[in-house]
Amino acid sequence: MKIGFFDSGIGGLTVLHQAVKLLPKEDYLFYADTANVPYGEKTREEVRQYIVDAADCIARQHVKALVIACNTATSIVIEELRQRYDFPILGIEPAVKPAIEKWEGNRKKVLVVATNLTLKEKKYNELVERLDHEEIVHSLPLPGLVQLAESFRFNQDEVVSYLKEAFAHLDVTQYGTVVLGCTHFPYFEMPLKSLFPEGTDFISGSLGTAKHLKRILEANNEVNQEGTGEIAFFKSGVKVEDAEELRRYHGLFDRLDDIERLKRL
Ligand code: SIN
Repeated sequence: MKIGFFDSGIGGLTVLHQAVKLLPKEDYLFYADTANVPYGEKTREEVRQYIVDAADCIARQHVKALVIACNTATSIVIEELRQRYDFPILGIEPAVKPAIEKWEGNRKKVLVVATNLTLKEKKYNELVERLDHEEIVHSLPLPGLVQLAESFRFNQDEVVSYLKEAFAHLDVTQYGTVVLGCTHFPYFEMPLKSLFPEGTDFISGSLGTAKHLKRILEANNEVNQEGTGEIAFFKSGVKVEDAEELRRYHGLFDRLDDIERLKRL
């Protein structure tokens, strides 16, 4: 059986990218709700319904696990989905805990960047309230990055000019860690880094979610040894067959590999 991945758009591929590396012999179904992206600027009720409809569609394809590779969706509906299906449902949330742990070493604050909806939701605010005893966590919505990613506009100048405006009122030198709290944001890690002092850490929950998926499959004795790593792409319920479009999706994995190479330099 396949493993399902869901996102409002192409952000979830940043999580799938990590999963494919850890579990190369699985087969995957990636569902992007491109008809309704961006979620981060909509109401929670609208978004809840989009996700339940999409998850029902994915469940009909008989998946053995479903990863909600979208911070906004996770914060709104993860508990409801867990009640609704009998296969494991994993989510992703801003990596606030590891970011706060770094404060002990560097005494620098934490900036969480995410969508408006994620930052407004109870799940995120309870997480910060529980962990942020020193009041070092600040947050900033960056909805423009979702739009840029969805239109495949990764052009450095356009992205940097958007980011400069978004950060104009912030003293970026006070932050030691930036939490990428939206799965669309790892595509922009390099331009983001260029605006912060050298040594600022950037963390996302993608690898943690992929490792969690692997642990669950191992515990359930469900790791596939014979799959081919095939990915079936769906856009709002419709299977993507167009070769050019499929190439564009696969090209995003190459982009993420390039970013990882640059980070190691
Ligand atoms: C969006 O659709 O606005 C992005 C959702 C997310 O990845 O948090």
